[in-house]
Amino acid sequence: MKLLLTGGAGNVGAYVTRELANHNMRHTVLDKDKPRELPDGVDFVQCDLMNLESTVETIRDFDVVLHLAAIPNAFVAAPEHVMAVNMVTCYNVLEAVRRNGIGRIVYAGSESSSGFGIHDVALKPMYLPIDEEHPLWPHESYSFTKRFGEEMVENYARAFGIEGLSLRYCGVWMENNLSELTAMIAPFLRGEYASEPWFGCYVAAQDVAQAVRLAAQYRFADKKRIPFEAFYITAPTTFYSEPTLDVMCRIFGAAPEVRDPSYFSETPCAPPFDIRKARRMLGYAPRYDCQDIQHWETL
Ligand SMILES: NC(=O)c1ccc[n+]([C@@H]2O[C@H](COP(=O)([O-])OP(=O)(O)OC[C@H]3O[C@@H](n4cnc5c(N)ncnc54)[C@H](O)[C@@H]3O)[C@@H](O)[C@H]2O)c1
Repeated sequence: MKLLLTGGAGNVGAYVTRELANHNMRHTVLDKDKPRELPDGVDFVQCDLMNLESTVETIRDFDVVLHLAAIPNAFVAAPEHVMAVNMVTCYNVLEAVRRNGIGRIVYAGSESSSGFGIHDVALKPMYLPIDEEHPLWPHESYSFTKRFGEEMVENYARAFGIEGLSLRYCGVWMENNLSELTAMIAPFLRGEYASEPWFGCYVAAQDVAQAVRLAAQYRFADKKRIPFEAFYITAPTTFYSEPTLDVMCRIFGAAPEVRDPSYFSETPCAPPFDIRKARRMLGYAPRYDCQDIQHWETL
């Protein structure tokens, strides 16, 4: 299987390339910037995905494209720039995939496409846990791009039979933001609560990398269906010590309808975003929990 990883010079991309190399999965990294380092045996190709012609020229002779390149949040660039870059690069990559007969794309989606958690506007979920059937209600530039990018991937699957998987990661924790995040969650681990975004959800970059690898290897069972699946990807619990339903009551006055009470009775701090589909279909098994955060850096 010939793999191409876009955005492989970025923060999450560095974990993905290491995960693939550790599993002897040969791959090429594509980015507009040179990576600081690459594992042995990994090739690099420089390309600006804003240019359709060079994207189509560069992304050929691969079986799977792992598409991570994007502006990764709404805070590092002007909103209209986030819209332009994330939408155009996603379209260009999909066109390269289609024109060059590549069979699969694994898309870096985001939990933010749900519209919950990262904004000042506290939209209340229709039900809990929030699964992949719940409507998506983004309402700012970055979240729009993650939702519409995913929709483009789904429609390329519908129209052209290109296999698409979208991984909706929660906020990714990794070495370069770990000390900042450790300081941020310290009050929560002591049980001191404040209005906090993301409903306390997060995921370690190592677990994201695991999900990307599994998505690259996933086998669609029924070829007649639209070959597209989306998955929420989080850690096994939130970073609160407060039960998730209490968090919801604190934020919304009353918790949304709970469709599966066993979900929270078995794990009171289970994430409001449901990762059981990823566990069941991909075999995703998150290994990093913030309760052990002091050990992460050495893992
Ligand atoms: N970091 C998170 O918390 C988080 C959460 C959910 C989803 N995601 C998604 O994961 C992916 C990776 O995020 P990250 O945190 O590693 O971001 P990052 O900024 O560290 O990496 C993104 C990479 O994309 C490359 N890139 C951007 N525009 C490009 C272009 N025009 N052509 C070629 N390469 C280009 C950048 O050079 C960079 O190396 C993104 O799609 C992001 O939306 C991230």
